[in-house]
Formats: sequence, structure tokens, C-alpha cells
Amino acid sequence: MKFFVDTAEISEIRELAATGLVDGVTTNPSLIAKSGRKFLDVVAEICSVVPGPVSAEVVSNDFETMLKEGKKLAAIAKNIAVKVPLTVDGLKTCKALADAGTMVNVTLCFSPAQAILAAKAGAAFVSPFVGRLDDVGTDGMQLIADICQIYAQYPTFRTEVLVASVRGPMHIVEAAKLGAHVATMPPSVLKQLFGHPLTDKGLAQFNADWKKTGQSLL
Ligand code: G3P
Repeated sequence: MKFFVDTAEISEIRELAATGLVDGVTTNPSLIAKSGRKFLDVVAEICSVVPGPVSAEVVSNDFETMLKEGKKLAAIAKNIAVKVPLTVDGLKTCKALADAGTMVNVTLCFSPAQAILAAKAGAAFVSPFVGRLDDVGTDGMQLIADICQIYAQYPTFRTEVLVASVRGPMHIVEAAKLGAHVATMPPSVLKQLFGHPLTDKGLAQFNADWKKTGQSLL
């Protein structure tokens, strides 16, 4: 399972990339606004830090403008995945960019039917939003199960399931059980994955016992 971080904060990206566990980055207009930086500058900087796919989202809603924006974003770096919304115009843009060899991440996916369309449009990634479905009283993880099951029926579908709108570690564990290809998560969730109180307790004991031996390894 690949791990992407869902942030436009370069310091957090650098810190987490140093673990060697970050396979890519996703951004969206809200995250760019939160960073307070210029969109094109921050995306270019992220691409220079993380060699894997970096999602950068178009900001228009019509096909012609989205395609122009997508081409501009794709020109920033080879590892850009242009993010388009799951609309008719978004999928037209996806098809045009994918046919030209650009990675596309189709975002704002909330149904299995939408995910089928994204795969047919040649998306490299489809982003189902599990947390936002949970927020409205629907089982977000069921959507991941449905998409994984459907995609498995069609080996010609090359689209990877990118679990988005992740709220906590159990979303990652459940998505991994279902075989989702990628999960994108806020830095706080990636950090949470490391922790367990028994790890801390066990390490404290090992450290104390090692000290008692009076030895030094180096
Ligand atoms: O980047 C897309 C997605 O991960 C957004 O998550 O927390 O705003 O629902 P959230």
C-alpha cells in the first residue's frame, strides 16, 4: 500500500519524507489556501522534495479551461498528477490529459458508479472521500470495498484506488485490508500510525535493562 500525505505544508512534507515512507503528496485548493503560499511555487517545491506523484488540482469547472490549467500544472514536473473533479467536464479533461500521457487523479468520488467512470476515462488514481461520507452518516469504507471489488473484475482498468479524506489510523487499516492501492492522509494521521503504548513501555524497559549491564555497543 502506498502512502501519500495530504498537505501543502512543505515543512511537514520534508519531515515525513525523511522517514522514507512517503510515496507521494496530494493537495487541493483548500490545502493551498491554508498554506498561504502561491499555488505554482508550492507545488513545484513539493515536486522537488518527493519524487512520487504530487497531485495538483485544476480550479475551473469547464472542459476548455480545465484542460489548459491541467497542461500548465503538468508542465511543472514529471511527477505531477493533475487532479480534476468527478464531473462530466472533469472526466473529459481526464481523458484528454491521460491520452497525452499525463497522470490524472479524479477527485470528489462518492459512488461506485463514479469510480467506474473515472477508470474508463483513464485516470491514474480515483479519490473516494471516506471521511466525508462517514461525516454524513454513510459507511465510507463500504465505498472502498465496492470500488476495489469492481476494479478487480476488469484487469484493463489501470486506475489505482486512492483512499482520501482519511480521519484516523483505522481508515488506513481497513483500506489496507480491502487492498486499496494508496491512502492519502494528513501528517497527523501518518504520525499516529507509529504509536502504541506497549511499544513505548517495552522500549523503556529495554533501555533500563541495558543500562544495568553497564555495557556500550559502540
Ligand atoms: O484531498 C482530498 C481529501 O483528502 C480531503 O480531505 O479531510 O478535507 O475531507 P478532508
